[in-house]
Amino acid sequence: MRVAVLPGDGIGPEVIDAAEEALRVLAPDLEIVHGELGLDCYSRLGEYLPDETMTLLKESQAALFGAITSPIVANDYQSPILTIRKKMDLYANLRPVRNPAPGIGLKDIDVVIVRENTEGMYTGEETVYKEHVELARRVSRYACERICAFARNTGESMGRKKVSCVHKANVLRKSDGLFRDVFYTSMAGSTLSAEDALVDAVAAGLVTSPQFYDVIVTLNLYGDILSDEAAALAGGLGIAPSANLNERFGLFEPVHGSAPDIAGKGIANPTAAFLSTAMMLEFLGMKAEGTKLRSAVEEVLASGNRTRDLGGSLSTKEFGRLVVKRCLTI
Ligand code: NAD
Ligand code: IPM
Ligand code: MN
Repeated sequence: MRVAVLPGDGIGPEVIDAAEEALRVLAPDLEIVHGELGLDCYSRLGEYLPDETMTLLKESQAALFGAITSPIVANDYQSPILTIRKKMDLYANLRPVRNPAPGIGLKDIDVVIVRENTEGMYTGEETVYKEHVELARRVSRYACERICAFARNTGESMGRKKVSCVHKANVLRKSDGLFRDVFYTSMAGSTLSAEDALVDAVAAGLVTSPQFYDVIVTLNLYGDILSDEAAALAGGLGIAPSANLNERFGLFEPVHGSAPDIAGKGIANPTAAFLSTAMMLEFLGMKAEGTKLRSAVEEVLASGNRTRDLGGSLSTKEFGRLVVKRCLTI
């Protein structure tokens, strides 16, 4: 089996270095190939997402991605990660969010956010007129059906109890209304209970009563925003993993970005990268190895060893080494 590793920009390479070390220890038979993308890649090669990187992804069973920096001014810029999600039809963005150890986070939370990953506000179809700009926002029955089926299957296989469809159908009556209708049809006959709620209320509800939420299925931009919010409640962006999935391929990445404010200082928290790697191992059929890595991270955190974002003083490398060492003995 081959895995493509794409470190990217900023803290991407710092946290992926640590995660790759765990990968080599836990799955020594995996072939690891490296690919380039992002702003650094552009400044060296003149391309944000070289064809060779796309080829590498197509020739791999899964990918581990760090983060990239988006240029602020670039007229025809297309985000490489959005391009990969679209080109490879990675339609489901799975973002499980929970406190990685007791005492970490602002609230006790354990939610699984299932984010539609191909359309909504992310069509990229912006038309510039003289005095205004219009965006094509797409909500298709097809995309709603497959993301709702994915949320139902995920909830059922994880032994969850409830799926909440999060939308804004009080304003976006036809588009989000379609999503809501499809959701209830998809949930018919499920062992899980189904409910729906407005996204603004859920943004507040996550803060006041996070334990009320279980699985959340939602459209692209809502999922982007709610997953950062949920991550902040659970311990910060440094701890939140994600998977971009279809039935054939998975690209695994921390929810966080390239964090230019701390990049190069060696202090980034690699927890999200480790937990994304654990999800990748499970996706590749290495369930025991995935569980080992997750347990190692949780144990190291529970014993009080932490990076600065979690109130500790360890560097990325120091924390990473403890986790890798724990993987060897667990
Ligand atoms: P960010 O997630 O990079 O950082 C937000 C805050 O969280 C910063 O204060 C940062 O220091 C902190 N943080 C993030 N990850 C951390 C970690 N592992 N350990 C400790 N602290 C961490 O978001 P931003 O600053 O809004 O965006 C920076 C750049 O990243 C932008 O160019 C943005 O477009 C890009 N971005 C990329 C991705 C991706 O590649 N998937 C995701 C989000 C943002
Ligand atoms: C994420 C990121 C991306 C998104 C950006 C970098 C395009 O914020 O993965 O959450 O908006 O999906
Ligand atoms: Mn985001």
